[in-house]
Amino acid sequence: MRARKATVAAPSNIAFVKYWGARDVERGIPSNRSISMTLSRCESICTVEFRAGEAAVPGDEVLIASERGSLDPAPRGFASPVLAHLERVRSWAGVTGPFRVATRNTFPSAAGLASSASGFAALSLAAARAAGRQPTPVELSDLARRSGSGSAARSAFGGYVEWPARDPGRDPVGAGGVPVPDEADGAGSGAEPSFPAMRLASHEHWDLRDLIAIVEASPKEVSSREGHRRVLTSPYFETRLGLLPTRLAEVRAAIHERDFDRLRPVLEAEAVDLHFLAMSARPPFHYWTPGTVEVVEAVRSLRAAGVPAAWTMDAGPNVHVICPPEAETEVAGRLESLTSVRTLIEDRVGPGPRTDPEPLF
Ligand code: PMV
Repeated sequence: MRARKATVAAPSNIAFVKYWGARDVERGIPSNRSISMTLSRCESICTVEFRAGEAAVPGDEVLIASERGSLDPAPRGFASPVLAHLERVRSWAGVTGPFRVATRNTFPSAAGLASSASGFAALSLAAARAAGRQPTPVELSDLARRSGSGSAARSAFGGYVEWPARDPGRDPVGAGGVPVPDEADGAGSGAEPSFPAMRLASHEHWDLRDLIAIVEASPKEVSSREGHRRVLTSPYFETRLGLLPTRLAEVRAAIHERDFDRLRPVLEAEAVDLHFLAMSARPPFHYWTPGTVEVVEAVRSLRAAGVPAAWTMDAGPNVHVICPPEAETEVAGRLESLTSVRTLIEDRVGPGPRTDPEPLF
């Protein structure tokens, strides 16, 4: 028996233009393109051991590592999607044999932050490497989104990332029309389509900070997976899709030019629309809390005082405040003074997955 082990860390990301609404949520096929910034401090660490040649079933083991180093069997709800994804990695790598997986997040587990993007990017890369394959970032991205967590496709790259990748020849910057590769590209045919992300710019191109204000730590009532299905019922879903070519072009240009004033309005409009579509879906769902409003108001008053800061959110009540480095101290001080902010995570744009962390076992 040959046992091979790999450990990786993959970062989370925050979307500037949101992936919200799926054409096929189980296969990670979105209704629209999205653009995100890869984070640095919020990571999932994953160690995978692969025993080549052994029967695949039963045998996969999924463990959660604590900060102190103990390993505990993952609860069923956590383990099931991991086991399903290990099957995809085996088939992608063309191997048989069981995996042993341990994982932990570097951000506080009580923070209520979704970790599926970092988690599935880390799992895909560690399992592929343990199985003896070295996926390119493009291969990793496509493998990670097959987990059904589309945002994991963006965590395969550092810096600023667009998903799905564009073919500039067919889809020039700012063009309207169909926002993702259409059925002709394979999404509706028997062949499994490929939808990797692409890097728009490196983390060194533009240093932006993300101050994550945690106002609520409990698990959300409606998962993003369910959200992707439900927002299709909003009467405003198509309206937002129609606005996206312009928004995507604005964000690409803002990143290219490092223009915060150009980025800010789109960032906030996208956050509003994510929640607007949720609230207008049938049945509706809500993520905002009074704490969310307190943080958003604080950002608005900072800006009125001339401090560059913009807010955005994921499918949850916590608020990501994006700002340039020179505004970080002032923004962080204000956020920390708010009664509803339980924890403030000070993160920044980062370089993407790394293969050098300490193994978890
Ligand atoms: O990757 P998923 O399926 O967890 O979807 C994430 C969706 C949002 O976080 C709400 C937006 C985004 O683009 O990250």
